[in-house]
Amino acid sequence: MTSRQLPRRSVLLGSLGVLAAGSVASCGGSGPGPAGTRLIGPHSEEVRAAERLRRARGQRVVAHRITAQPTTVDLGGRTVETWAYGDSVPGPVLRTTAGDLLRVELTNSLPDETSIHWHGLALSNDMDGVPGITQDPIRAGDGFTYELTTPDPGTYFFHPHSGVQLDRGLYGVLVVDDRAEPGGYDQEWVVVLDDWVDGTGRTPDDVLVGLVSMSGMGHGGAMGEGMFSSLLGGAGDVDYPQYLVNGRTPAAPATLSGKPGERARIRIINAGSDTAFRLALGGHRLTVTHSDGFPVRPVTTDALLIGMGERYDVTVDLADGVFPLVAAAEGKAGVGMALVRTAAGAAPEPEVRIRELGRQVLLGTDLAASSGVGLVRRSVDRQFDVVLGGTIMPYRWTINGASFPDTRALDVASGERVRLRIRNQSMMFHPVHLHGHTFGLVEGGARKDTVIVKPMQSLEVDLDSDNPGQWALHCHNIYHAETGMMTVLSYRS
Ligand code: C2O
Ligand code: CU
Repeated sequence: MTSRQLPRRSVLLGSLGVLAAGSVASCGGSGPGPAGTRLIGPHSEEVRAAERLRRARGQRVVAHRITAQPTTVDLGGRTVETWAYGDSVPGPVLRTTAGDLLRVELTNSLPDETSIHWHGLALSNDMDGVPGITQDPIRAGDGFTYELTTPDPGTYFFHPHSGVQLDRGLYGVLVVDDRAEPGGYDQEWVVVLDDWVDGTGRTPDDVLVGLVSMSGMGHGGAMGEGMFSSLLGGAGDVDYPQYLVNGRTPAAPATLSGKPGERARIRIINAGSDTAFRLALGGHRLTVTHSDGFPVRPVTTDALLIGMGERYDVTVDLADGVFPLVAAAEGKAGVGMALVRTAAGAAPEPEVRIRELGRQVLLGTDLAASSGVGLVRRSVDRQFDVVLGGTIMPYRWTINGASFPDTRALDVASGERVRLRIRNQSMMFHPVHLHGHTFGLVEGGARKDTVIVKPMQSLEVDLDSDNPGQWALHCHNIYHAETGMMTVLSYRS
């Protein structure tokens, strides 16, 4: 792409500038810590050195320009005003090969400040896109150039880390291809799930105000019964008027086309803000091959439960006909739907119900890392309790008893094996997401960056502190994150 001069704004704040909120400067953690030591900020030499190591000589550059803007989109029979990347929801599918440099010139044409977070990537901390932690917010009318090596193959996505903008149409997909990919499939489809409210009479900001002020608006208490009893002990907090697959309602679904007998690889992303989806394809079983970008020991299942921020790659052997790919909002009344078509014939009704949803349902915690993908065995150097709590009234969510920005940071030094003991002490499920790292569920579980923790469930994940900087750790329910369920994995030296 040709370079066009963007209204670029300097973000060379130095580490103190962006961290001035003080929230990440506190010390904490168990054991003899790096307490009292220097914080490794996003613009530190350590962060630059880590990115230099990722950049091979002759690195290929993949360049894109993206404009975040107000626009009007047709969801299929329903036209809404929203904010999107360009004119479509979902936004663009960006594609690199592992090791490439991705350069995205973002223009902010929104009436609000914004940012882009590259969800799931072990990227350079200064490009992580978290205002207040890794960069200044990009003001309305300004721009910012993201430039990052995409180190690991897999299915990723990107979205703002500013307020509740994720619950607008601001999301796009990033696929990082694997040079060593054996292939073995004939079709490759990207499937993005979303819960939709924007432009239907209220915005996500209105929903947040409703939750916080307990006007009852948007609260799950008024919600109808889900189709199945929830495997997550409940639903989210917001009753959405629409659920979308690839930006379309079930009334006018997106179509994924192939031929009978072909094998399709489906890259599934839950870009929802408050909804886990139970996904199945009528007349088929799904073989799960990757979770959050990383290979798992393949498992075949009828249905898959996908938390907000999680991604799964599955393969399916296509039968002959027209089949509904249904994403049922877990614990809620609505569904999203797309069509898989390998033959002529009538489309299923938007209200179609498929048996597969009521059969075997797989969660990320059921999976095992495939060989060579798990963390190497070593002893734990540092351990943290991450206690998830909160209440609906008042609407406030906590980690270790505090709400961001008052949460205590988890201080680590480079080169450690770090264990997070996540304990959910609330009656709500939380998809816990860590930036810049892919943790491993203990005892050989899948490598992931986002994991659903059910009400009152405890689970442990390990990570290697090999990517210096300041990294958000938060619930991927955007309303929980925005009202406090967030902290920082903070490197110090
Ligand atoms: Cu998609 Cu901080 O996350
Ligand atoms: Cu949560």
